Amino acid sequence: MLSWDDYHVEEQTPSAAPPPPPPAKEPAPAPAKTATVERAQNVTEAAPSPAPVAAEPVTEKTQREPSAQTAQSKSSNIERAKHAMENIDVAPGLEELEMGAGRVQVDDKAMINCKADLNQLVPFKYDWAWQKYLDGCANHWMPQEVNMTADVSLWKSSDGLTDDERTIVKRNLGFFATADSLVANNLVLALYRHITNPECRQYMLRQAFEEAIHTHAYQYCIQSLGMDEGEIFNMYREVPSIAKKAAWGLNNTQNLSDPDFKTGTPEDDQALLRNLVAFYCVLEGIFFYCGFTQILSMGRRNKMTGTSEQFQYILRDESMHLNFGIDVINQIKLENPHLWTDSFKQECIDMILQGTQLEIEYGRDTMPRGVLGMNAGMMEEYLKFIANRRLLQIGLPEQYAGAQNPFPWMSEIMDLRKEKNFFETRVIEYQTGGALSW
Ligand SMILES: [Fe+2]
Ligand SMILES: [Fe+2]
Repeated sequence: MLSWDDYHVEEQTPSAAPPPPPPAKEPAPAPAKTATVERAQNVTEAAPSPAPVAAEPVTEKTQREPSAQTAQSKSSNIERAKHAMENIDVAPGLEELEMGAGRVQVDDKAMINCKADLNQLVPFKYDWAWQKYLDGCANHWMPQEVNMTADVSLWKSSDGLTDDERTIVKRNLGFFATADSLVANNLVLALYRHITNPECRQYMLRQAFEEAIHTHAYQYCIQSLGMDEGEIFNMYREVPSIAKKAAWGLNNTQNLSDPDFKTGTPEDDQALLRNLVAFYCVLEGIFFYCGFTQILSMGRRNKMTGTSEQFQYILRDESMHLNFGIDVINQIKLENPHLWTDSFKQECIDMILQGTQLEIEYGRDTMPRGVLGMNAGMMEEYLKFIANRRLLQIGLPEQYAGAQNPFPWMSEIMDLRKEKNFFETRVIEYQTGGALSW
């Protein structure tokens, strides 16, 4: 059977070869610095002295009849802008680039610690990253497109769902409603700064928007079902099995959001790699899987079908996020083999096993009894199977011998190559609906 998270062939592409040594440095053109100094002088010289104008009380007269001083002030504003633009520094930041003003060559590019110009998207070094960006855009969707009518009537009926099923819906909306915000924060505030490759950053921006759509989807479900928003959104502080996962995620990703953090030493580069493993392999690669399985199982039983459809779209996005993260991690390993030490490998194994343990506990908490054709024991087996996959995907040995997948239908649901026809229609609608007529 095809599986959605098969180890990607792109990871073995020739582009994965370690980069050759960088070319000799070229000095940055002198005018840049000179222009910067001149600009600073201009700013000083042209420092505005708006006190009289600003202090003037705004009366009916001044509103109706601009004074001569106001006209003079406008003229001086324009002159100041002209003067500043005549002396603009045309190469800000150039002094930070190792290649100076030279055109970017593909071999100049690297996943981390790259000093080539990050504003030049092409030539691509990692075609797989650009392809994932295109695939993400082609799979665009919005939560309001999903019909929630059946969910609303089922949720409001007194005998539509069992108490255990209601717990599953609430717990999962509670976990995911804040989890995707934590994910987006780590992506935008931490990882984006340190991944020094423009095609990967392009995908990360797409991913960040998708995380916003996911948070929107949970909010949309919570609102449609008329749930207590405060209760659901604060579950990550109040429900221990959710709080533990959120705390683990924060503890293992937060250090990179320190504005003073920089890569460049083996220790700091390992800190980045550690964050990537915690983020992609555990947060996105393990922590979502109990909830996804439970909600999708509900949809398979024709219950909460709108919520289940939202989760299906989210899961498809997440499978792409995960595969992107795995590719990034493996590329960093290839380009920086000195980081992948035995002790660091052990740290990664420990993180993945810790995350698996928390997710197993979450499964027990959300399923005290058998429900929806599954139980906590089956979920534990599934999570061990998933953990083995994550370990293998980044080149580490399996830790749960013989773990099997008790939910093979999950692989079918998540398989990107088996999309529903209506989704193709939707993509076409987006493409034509987005065209502006002037
Ligand atoms: Fe997400
Ligand atoms: Fe994600």
